[in-house]
Amino acid sequence: MSFLVCRVHREDKSIYHQLEMMDEQQLSAGDVLIRIEYSGINFKDALGVTGKGKIYKLFPVNAGIDCAGIVESSSDTRFEIGEKVLVNGCGLGEIQDGGLAQKVRVPADWVIKIPEGLTSRTAMILGTAGFTAALAIDRMEQNDQTPEQGAIVVTGASGGVGSFAVSMLSRLGYEVIAVSGRDEHSDYLKNMGASKVVNMQQLALGTRPLEEARFAGAIDNVGGELLSGLIRHTGLWGNIACIGMAADANYQTTVFPLILRGVSLLGISSTNCPMPKRERIWQRIGKELLPNNTELIVSQEVCLADISPCFYDILARRHRGRILVNCE
Ligand SMILES: NC(=O)c1ccc[n+]([C@@H]2O[C@H](COP(=O)([O-])OP(=O)(O)OC[C@H]3O[C@@H](n4cnc5c(N)ncnc54)[C@H](OP(=O)(O)O)[C@@H]3O)[C@@H](O)[C@H]2O)c1
Repeated sequence: MSFLVCRVHREDKSIYHQLEMMDEQQLSAGDVLIRIEYSGINFKDALGVTGKGKIYKLFPVNAGIDCAGIVESSSDTRFEIGEKVLVNGCGLGEIQDGGLAQKVRVPADWVIKIPEGLTSRTAMILGTAGFTAALAIDRMEQNDQTPEQGAIVVTGASGGVGSFAVSMLSRLGYEVIAVSGRDEHSDYLKNMGASKVVNMQQLALGTRPLEEARFAGAIDNVGGELLSGLIRHTGLWGNIACIGMAADANYQTTVFPLILRGVSLLGISSTNCPMPKRERIWQRIGKELLPNNTELIVSQEVCLADISPCFYDILARRHRGRILVNCE
């Protein structure tokens, strides 16, 4: 039986996407066929389908770097028909047909059983954004970050990763300073658990190689000047998780924060996260990191037929939190 997908094509050098009907035989090869219940739209999907970023390694391809649903068939004994599973990263929607579709087929090694505490819906409200926030916090803590060290700054705070970072850090007892370029999201971010919401100007970051140690660490989604400034203001043994480049892929630093304060810049790559760590992080989300106010992070719930404008909203910084896609 055919089903609906968001398929991305390249013709000459231009990239376009459209909704199409497809058959199972046309999907990328794999061991596990999943009927998708929910997916989400990520910054990376928006870059890919609009051609603003070089995301896809094959064309045509179904977009979507994450999804959750029910196993329809599996040639791998680890998964049974009817089981609830999720896939995020690993190459989904990049080197393999992705999750903005009603069905997907993937290698069994990419599939995660939805952990206790989560459903297909909550798993995809989190999606890659929530997973990445959790991965960043986990890496910081493995590098000895504690709430007692002081406040953590979260940039791009009203976006998907930012909202979850604020909310999860606050749940773990950290003081959180949310940095958002949009004042209208201040109350939302306070509801998420931020003790203070400021814009970049109010943060008043200095430009000397080493500035007053005002923050214990940071989760940065923005890059550029903001990241450069935060490195200069991070205190002894603080960690900065580098996640995104919503503003700029470049940043500038000297070695001084690193060699005089022991500051660590931690790279976060959700796509390439090794499977044992990926499984452990999803378990940790289900047990202790899932925010109480998860539904508040959903700014829009759309069906596949309505996703197209959402890609442009994300790139134009018009959305907040997560855009959830109901694929059924
Ligand atoms: N490393 C990884 O594994 C990984 C995983 C997921 C995402 N990412 C990256 O992390 C970033 C955030 O992802 P996301 O899914 O949270 O995206 P998102 O929902 O679009 O959020 C990005 C946020 O960054 C801020 N922002 C956007 N454009 C900006 C600009 N030009 N200058 C300054 N701030 C800007 C906005 O927050 P405010 O308006 O509140 O300032 C926006 O809501 C993206 O760069 C994405 O590619 C990386």
